[in-house]
Amino acid sequence: MRVAITGTTGRVGAALARHLASRHQVFPLPRSLCDLADRSSLARTLAGLDCGIFINPAGITSLESCQDDPPLAMRVNAQAPGEIAAWAASRGVRVVHFSTDYVFGGQTPGLRSETEAPEPVNVYGQSKLAGERAVLSHPGNLVLRASWIIGPEKPSFVDQIFAAALAGFPLAAVADKFSLPTFTHDLAEWVAGLIDSDASGLLHACNPGAPVSWHGLATAVVKEMKACGVIAECPEIAGQKLTEMQAFRALRPRFTAMDTRRLSAVLGQAIRPWPAALKQYVWQRCRPPGDG
Ligand SMILES: NC(=O)c1ccc[n+]([C@@H]2O[C@H](COP(=O)([O-])OP(=O)(O)OC[C@H]3O[C@@H](n4cnc5c(N)ncnc54)[C@H](OP(=O)(O)O)[C@@H]3O)[C@@H](O)[C@H]2O)c1
Repeated sequence: MRVAITGTTGRVGAALARHLASRHQVFPLPRSLCDLADRSSLARTLAGLDCGIFINPAGITSLESCQDDPPLAMRVNAQAPGEIAAWAASRGVRVVHFSTDYVFGGQTPGLRSETEAPEPVNVYGQSKLAGERAVLSHPGNLVLRASWIIGPEKPSFVDQIFAAALAGFPLAAVADKFSLPTFTHDLAEWVAGLIDSDASGLLHACNPGAPVSWHGLATAVVKEMKACGVIAECPEIAGQKLTEMQAFRALRPRFTAMDTRRLSAVLGQAIRPWPAALKQYVWQRCRPPGDG
């Protein structure tokens, strides 16, 4: 299958381009070839494109950037996916698009299902919700809502904690906001399975398990580091409140962990829980391949 992928300089796009290349002919579309902010750049790319599947992980993912420039956020995260989906519908191309748990208002604990009404509290969430609706207005397309993406393609919170713990720096993390991580290795495998199936519609695609705060995730990281032997003791991690985070100008929803039962049913397999995925990731970081 000929598969076009945007956002290949980002976490998800890079993981997908690498993973899918063993089974498909991949056409990477980084921003330098296809700028979603520029309607004519996107139209030029689409006019010259021959593919059976168009995967769109590209987007403005910084909440603060979206908050600072709502028209740009809507252009990249909503209008561009809509234009891709309209082009794809006219050619019989299937679109796989990525969205976020931040479409939810997240006021109460629990797992959010695909049928729960979204209620975004910031421009990022509003723009992503508009993007998923535009893509799903054409039958056959697939929208995967991921959360808290982690992987070797680009440093994330887990890598920051790993580096700080290794250096012996003081650690602190928000303890009153809960979600579920999504490991890029697992996400790429799910996408590979999904594009071989006729799955369509909306799917929650994260690693399952008990919802976890940044503080809980940081605690799990240092425990694995100790088990692996790169630190002698688990350092203290100070708990912070979301409201204390001065750098957060955009509101964050507090409870956005997603229910992955539909993903599991569609793939016909159990989805690996986040502690197992985290363990593999941290141990790989502790003992990189070829390191003795
Ligand atoms: N990161 C998370 O924790 C998270 C959580 C939930 C859902 N998601 C969703 O998952 C998807 C993938 O996220 P990610 O973690 O891979 O994000 P990422 O690492 O921030 O990568 C975003 C990608 O989008 C590209 N991009 C940004 N603006 C663009 C434009 N105007 N034209 C073309 N490309 C543009 C970036 O290119 P440049 O390198 O050129 O900037 C980059 O390749 C996104 O749709 C996001 O909303 C992410």
